[in-house]
Amino acid sequence: MSEKIFIAVAWPYANGSLHLGQIAGAYLPPDIFARYHRTKGNEVLMVSGSDQHGTPITIKAEQESKKPGEIAARYHRQFLESWQRFGISFDLFTTTGTENHARVTQDIFLTLLERGYIYKNTLSQPYCPSCQRFLADRYIEGTCPFCNSPGARGDQCEACGKPLNPAELIDPQCRICGTTPVFRDTEHFFLKLSAFNADLLQWVKTKTHWRPNVLNFSTRYLEEGLKDRAITRDIDWGVAVPLEGFEDKRIYVWFEAVIGYLSAAKEWATISGNEEKWRDFWQNSETKSYYFIGKDNIPFHTLIWPAMLMGYGDNLNLPYDVPANEFLTIEGRKLSTSQNWAVWLLDYLDRYDPDPLRYLLSINMPETSDTDFSWREFVRRNNDELVATYGNLVHRVLTFVYRNFEGSVPEPGEFDAQDSQILTGAKNTLETVDGRLYGCHFREAIRAVMALAQEANRYLDDKSPWKKIKEDRQAAATSLYVALNVIANLKTMLYPFLPFSSQRLHEYLGFTGRIEDYGWNWQELPPGQKLLPPQPLFSKLDDSLVEEEAKKLGQPPL
Ligand code: MF3
Ligand code: ZN
Repeated sequence: MSEKIFIAVAWPYANGSLHLGQIAGAYLPPDIFARYHRTKGNEVLMVSGSDQHGTPITIKAEQESKKPGEIAARYHRQFLESWQRFGISFDLFTTTGTENHARVTQDIFLTLLERGYIYKNTLSQPYCPSCQRFLADRYIEGTCPFCNSPGARGDQCEACGKPLNPAELIDPQCRICGTTPVFRDTEHFFLKLSAFNADLLQWVKTKTHWRPNVLNFSTRYLEEGLKDRAITRDIDWGVAVPLEGFEDKRIYVWFEAVIGYLSAAKEWATISGNEEKWRDFWQNSETKSYYFIGKDNIPFHTLIWPAMLMGYGDNLNLPYDVPANEFLTIEGRKLSTSQNWAVWLLDYLDRYDPDPLRYLLSINMPETSDTDFSWREFVRRNNDELVATYGNLVHRVLTFVYRNFEGSVPEPGEFDAQDSQILTGAKNTLETVDGRLYGCHFREAIRAVMALAQEANRYLDDKSPWKKIKEDRQAAATSLYVALNVIANLKTMLYPFLPFSSQRLHEYLGFTGRIEDYGWNWQELPPGQKLLPPQPLFSKLDDSLVEEEAKKLGQPPL
């Protein structure tokens, strides 16, 4: 029976270009997962959008003397281009700037207010006397009271990931002018998170399938006890507070951005021509929802958003899994966008193909600990693994068969023990990879596929059909047929990771249409099937790029 899978992907702030840390952390994993489930024949809805509100965007706009909307529009266009070129297959990638999103947000706000889960209170907020404004979130910086890192913001410490209130910051400063803020009273709305603590704890305890870091972080947090949090701000960029007297305030960006998961599903349903269809992914208790995020976003997705959903009711599904990734370091150092210690996705795509990067980030995915991206590793994995192991396996078999068997799949003879063994191994791998992908163990999944490719190379070296063909054409045909079948299934298993090269291979093998439509089933090539003239799937990269690329790190962009 087909399953329904809702794939919710972290909404990137529309204030800067995408870098590999974000891609490895939050964007490649859900795409692998979505492609896998679509191939399985499951119904997938994968949504996200630009997070275009809040101080991340207004600060950037002020720096460039632009309107926040212009900044958001620029990066939204860039994101769409990035998804298309890198093959991130969203069903909808919208923005938090839509009418629909504001409506859904305001409805949730008012419902929670009516139910007593949102209440009004006077709050003492930092105010910069020289800038004459309230310093919301990123406008104020100081030392984190929990981990003592400098540069913690008014809403969250990036170093330890804890959400913060500005009053908790040690040595606070105005981000614009450096002045020490004073505290002034202002009225705000609060989300009564404390009311959900017990229910959340009970709920989280059932999530034994969560990654240990996600589970531990969330549990620890709840054991300390959730504090109510202000969910409106003294700024003028964001979703309006739907109440009189609050015209000068906006709903807090985090409160509304997570609502995007629901509003995007509704927008998708409307676009698809059936306004009710979002319910399949939100109100069907059989549907599983997966939230793909980086580890800095954990509390918003495992605690705050579930609390909002519990309070709102309407039978909306809580997250089934939140497979948050750790961080990607670059050449051994913590990624920093302000110091340009980062690799930008579109820069990468201007020079190289998408699949080699998708490969590297998959096999070295920061799933359970931070991992490192280095250009040397990129070249090595491309040349030794994609080209030499997988690409070469495919290319030598396809070209040889194409030349010696009239461009079609040869007719096999009897299988011997070795033939059966590799075929059984490949069938088992298809099952193993299935299980690993189902459980979001992406790194282990691709490692298992590559081990099979290696085994197939050893099999071919043993069988040497290129020599054998002179004395025993039938024996050569059999081992080539076996190898072709392994390859035909490698393409299925690699498709979620390497969609571009897998689709090409699908066509070289004489299949038509989309690879996804063939299912996650053992593919048996019909003898006689016409092949297309093969081209190498990957090309070798020159070592010289390592130094060229490394030189750009930490330099101001050209
Ligand atoms: N914009 C946030 C970030 O880049 C992520 C928001 S995820 C959301 O860290 F779901 F809340 F939108
Ligand atoms: Zn100031």
